[in-house]
Amino acid sequence: MKSSILDNRPQLAAEVNKVAEVAGYLWQKGWAERNGGNITVNITEYVDDEIKVMPAISEVKQIGTTLPHLKGCYFYCKGTGKRMRDLARWPMDNGSIIRILDDCASYVIIADNPVQPTSELPSHLSVHNWLIGSGSPYKASLHTHPIELVALTHSKKWLEKDAATRMLWSMIPETKAFCPRGLGIIPYKLPSSIELADATLAELADYDVVMWEKHGVFAVDTDIMSAFDQVDVLNKSALIYIAAKNMGFEPEGMTDEQMKEMSIAFNLPK
Ligand code: 13P
Ligand code: ZN
Repeated sequence: MKSSILDNRPQLAAEVNKVAEVAGYLWQKGWAERNGGNITVNITEYVDDEIKVMPAISEVKQIGTTLPHLKGCYFYCKGTGKRMRDLARWPMDNGSIIRILDDCASYVIIADNPVQPTSELPSHLSVHNWLIGSGSPYKASLHTHPIELVALTHSKKWLEKDAATRMLWSMIPETKAFCPRGLGIIPYKLPSSIELADATLAELADYDVVMWEKHGVFAVDTDIMSAFDQVDVLNKSALIYIAAKNMGFEPEGMTDEQMKEMSIAFNLPK
């Protein structure tokens, strides 16, 4: 069998395997049509001296922006055009590991195959740069197309600041407990653009999950499983809202009193 950078590196393999597991969930949930969605994970902490001298297996590629905190960092990235359902089984054929070069504006692929990273790399890497700069323990970022959450953004009502957050939190107590910073909203911007990356960065200062209007969500957390969990609880709330509407009534939602009680009991920030 062909050798892999994951061979004899159990911690690195575990991180990549978590990405594969989440990719399978995204497909099962119907959030990952065709090549929809992307994942990147900062794996620099698992990089040993042998990896540091691995030769590039691609040309030098430009990120499109300069990100000073990423000097010498390494990332696992889903490949552009690759399917989550394929990545779930073959993560190193549908994604690759990249090294950021010393100019902080370019990168090379080092393993296992020259799979070109996701088209949303500017957003992902800008976010990782900001996370490192702000001393955050977050290492993973996820972009996905969760059906019911995206559907909400087709109504102006839910694009108002924190309107969707309040509704989603009030559907079931766990949503606020496990997505305590709520859902930020970013008005529509061209996919993969630097403008979208900049807007995502600004919104992540206040939220762990942000919505790209009429497109999908972008979530960050310590690892990819936790980032997925935050999106999953939000989308569960959207499903409860829709189920009630389908039964012919507007759901009441938890009362302000109940929400306040929750926030105190769980020591939540907002
Ligand atoms: P990639 O296949 O380039 O990752 O793009 C998928 C996507 O969802 C773009 O927003
Ligand atoms: Zn997308």
